[in-house]
Amino acid sequence: MTGKIQSVRGMRDILPPESQHWQYLERTLAEVLTGYGYQQIRTPVLEPTALFTRSIGEVSDIVQKEMYTFEDRNGDSLTMRPEGTASSVRAFIEHGLSQHLPLRLWYTGPMFRHERPQKGRYRQFHQLGIEVFGLTGPDIDAELILLTRAFWAALGIAGLTLEINSLGTAETRARYRDTLKAYFEPHRARLDEDSLLRLEKNPLRILDSKNPELAELISQAPSLTDALDDDARAHFDGLLNTLTACGVEFVVNPRLVRGLDYYTHTVFEWKTAALGAQDTVCAGGRYDGLIESFGAKPVPAVGFAAGLERLLALLPPPPAELTTQADLYVVLANDDPATSMTMVEALRQALPGQRILAHCGGGSMKSQMKKADRSGARYALVIGAAELAERRYALKPLREDLPQETFDLDTLSARLTAQAAAEESTQSE
Ligand code: HAM
Repeated sequence: MTGKIQSVRGMRDILPPESQHWQYLERTLAEVLTGYGYQQIRTPVLEPTALFTRSIGEVSDIVQKEMYTFEDRNGDSLTMRPEGTASSVRAFIEHGLSQHLPLRLWYTGPMFRHERPQKGRYRQFHQLGIEVFGLTGPDIDAELILLTRAFWAALGIAGLTLEINSLGTAETRARYRDTLKAYFEPHRARLDEDSLLRLEKNPLRILDSKNPELAELISQAPSLTDALDDDARAHFDGLLNTLTACGVEFVVNPRLVRGLDYYTHTVFEWKTAALGAQDTVCAGGRYDGLIESFGAKPVPAVGFAAGLERLLALLPPPPAELTTQADLYVVLANDDPATSMTMVEALRQALPGQRILAHCGGGSMKSQMKKADRSGARYALVIGAAELAERRYALKPLREDLPQETFDLDTLSARLTAQAAAEESTQSE
């Protein structure tokens, strides 16, 4: 084969050390989720195309222009998931999970959208998503927003703004749709091609238009907030009260409608000023009608998804010890590689929490020590001829000016275990 083969446009490799930042990000988010009592769900990347066309909406940008859809060898139309809500709902119905309500689920993984790639926007990107099934009240909406706040705190991300709105019930939306249609209809000549299509199929989406020429027309459109019925108003007020009580700052944005069609009541987005045009790091809302629209018994639901590439761009660098390769770099300066390897394996068994990188490929003591230093490890662990003969290990601190000491396996592991425990307790103080 000739010609260079490269990764697909908008899809990227994640190499070390960046992959360590990803692991740190994912681990931190998973810890917060576990702390809130959420459980993980894993669904396939490929789904039947109809799953997305029927849930995300025929006139959404995703369905109209962005899906990776193809026929497989049987002629079935499949789509690489552009998001995780539809798949979670499919799994929920398929496995009869309505027997286990309420359910608090989370997922993470790659999503695929054929958008124009730019900073913060990719064709393969990663989301961490939450879907909660079976709870109707504003309390769970508030819990999700508090959970996102806990994410930002755990990651050390500051400066995000929360925008929030209520779309009301499906009936409110239907009524508001008519109101909007009547408002935009006389201005047809000013609307662009996208907005004309939306006018027919879903006029709410015109409010989401990024076309600056429409900004004024949109700003004068009737407000959805005025169209809310009493129940929707009470739900929204309940949510805002709880957020205020918990000290969450927010901005009510009556034009926030979201790009996916399945939302009802609460919608929200967390935005940043630090990433340019791709400023939404996390977004979601309630979708009480979606499960029923697939022919199942109605179950209320609410969720959100955060874009991991965007979170990573905002993440302060993780602590250095999390992104170096090893705690101990084993230097093998003897002529018995087989016995050396048994000693390294014994060490690994005795010290399961430590990252132990064993030198391979020979070379002088000096060059191995250089590699030990470059690995970022805290200690070099030297097994020279003398140590090998006595089955001992010489521990040389690489980051502190302390003398080298020699230990047998038991004393070495006792020493390092005690040290790790002492450091953990000072950290948690
Ligand atoms: P979404 O607003 O389409 O919602 O996406 C959520 C987040 O994914 C965005 O705020 C953004 O951070 C990230 N994202 C989206 N597209 C890209 C892209 N091309 N490149 C990088 N990041 C991107 C949903 O997907 C809903 N399923 C959220 C939800 C869950 N609603 C209820 N439950």
